[in-house]
Amino acid sequence: MISKTIQDALNEQVRIEAESSQVYLAMASWAEIQPGINNITSFFYRHSDEERMHMLKLIHFINDRGGFAVIPALKQPALTFPSIKHAFDSLLKHEIFVSESINKIVDISLSEKDYATHNFLQWYVAEQIEEEALARTLNDKLELIGDDKGGLYLFDKDILTVTVGGA
Ligand code: FEO
Repeated sequence: MISKTIQDALNEQVRIEAESSQVYLAMASWAEIQPGINNITSFFYRHSDEERMHMLKLIHFINDRGGFAVIPALKQPALTFPSIKHAFDSLLKHEIFVSESINKIVDISLSEKDYATHNFLQWYVAEQIEEEALARTLNDKLELIGDDKGGLYLFDKDILTVTVGGA
């Protein structure tokens, strides 16, 4: 059975993962109407799906541990971006924010001596390391590419091979 404190903290994370899914879905929709970046578009759609999976995993855990997972209202995400680089930059910033939020719940689980939740959260800790590293690599590549259209063509080709997260 989880405590009210843990339940509230996990529900806040449900909201954050749901919001992440919306944020990346908005990026995907914006990318889809930009010419020639079909694989970047698929990357954002896949990323959005991954975040929904992160949310569902939390929902099942809360309910399985005798709590109640609350499905949250979500705010409107950013709909357009000045450039592809801006979109990826905001993806990285968002992942750093998610990591900080996960770390906070890890702290709470330790102070509550809730070792089951602590153990469950380790999957998210590992996942965030991967997601941040990936977002940094993609941003570094885009930084190198600058305004070079040939570079962007190759970036779009390359991103096909990138996998986001894991279940
Ligand atoms: Fe579920 Fe990318 O954080």
